[in-house]
Amino acid sequence: EKGGYDWFMQKEIAEQPQAVADTLLGRVNGQGRLKLDEMRLSEDELRAITKIIVVACGTAYHAGLIAKYAIEHWTRVPVEVELASEFRYRDPILTKDTLVIAISQSGETMDTLMAIRHAREQHSRVLAICNTNGSTIPRESDAVVYTHGGPEIGVASTKAFLTQLTACYLVGLYLAQVRGVKFNDEVEEVLTQLSDSPAAIAETLNRMEPIRKLARSMVGARTVLFLGRHVGYPMALEGALKLKELAYIHAEGFAAGELKHGPIALIEQDLPVVVVVPSPKRPLLHDKIVSNIQEIRARGAKTIVIAEDGDDVVAPYADFLFHVPELPILLQPLVATVPLQVFAAELADALGYDVDQPRNLAKSVTVE
Ligand code: M6R
Repeated sequence: EKGGYDWFMQKEIAEQPQAVADTLLGRVNGQGRLKLDEMRLSEDELRAITKIIVVACGTAYHAGLIAKYAIEHWTRVPVEVELASEFRYRDPILTKDTLVIAISQSGETMDTLMAIRHAREQHSRVLAICNTNGSTIPRESDAVVYTHGGPEIGVASTKAFLTQLTACYLVGLYLAQVRGVKFNDEVEEVLTQLSDSPAAIAETLNRMEPIRKLARSMVGARTVLFLGRHVGYPMALEGALKLKELAYIHAEGFAAGELKHGPIALIEQDLPVVVVVPSPKRPLLHDKIVSNIQEIRARGAKTIVIAEDGDDVVAPYADFLFHVPELPILLQPLVATVPLQVFAAELADALGYDVDQPRNLAKSVTVE
């Protein structure tokens, strides 16, 4: 049951700190070593991998896009990320040394299932990241890392997304550890930060009131754009997807660097644009996005800015500024996605829509 919440989605958003903590539980030991029980691929097999392809749909695909930044950085193994529905039909290059990672909350998504069947026919190894014990995708995979998110009822994926990210980080760090590519120190440091992330997510949840108010003031919006750089780009895609599916508002996510290659033409007076800002500790990225915000604001956009605690450089250009707790950039999606989820759900509710059961959608898509 909803346990005092208005919708399951609200409950599931609130459960995110616990869901992430549960996904980490028992997998990180005190010495900064990782143990993944369900990793039924030998260390030798993992050392032999020359390429990773992530296949997934919807929100899980966005988790995969973020995973690419992390896994490549930590392991130096090339990672491709592909929509499961596109993958099989383009004759992808797969060998026995390719690791295919399938991300699926339900474990029953037909597009993703067909993609892994194809990969296995080509003798690639398949690792599933899944929330549903014993579902078809993990059953048909060589290995599985379960996300311990608990049941997700709301059609819009929230805690599944954060736990998928957590599992992707664990897999990336595990591969780095097994392959000995990076200094163990870095693995250890990131694991500590990851272990601290549930508290940061809880802190983010405590700050939601202004986001709720903002969303409720925006019932007249016809279009909302989302911009980000680095992992902020997939977050922008995710924020836009949430808004489309729940509030039926036209929304698009862009890489902020692409603005001048086209999308800036869309900017007009009062157009709401949500911008996810990377940490000022990454000055190259940060400076660039600050100038993007200035550019769109100069053209009349209403800027809704999500930035890290203490980042006030963006304040003069933000019509609305929301701060999230500090985390290293690769982990920032764990906190910065939360306001995007709440924004979409509140706006949908304010418009009178059923937040848990948006029109035309099913929780698991078991047809191709
Ligand atoms: O069960 P899966 O993770 O395989 O589902 C994939 C997508 O259908 C799913 O993430 C969908 O995009 C959500 N409704 C998004 O909120």
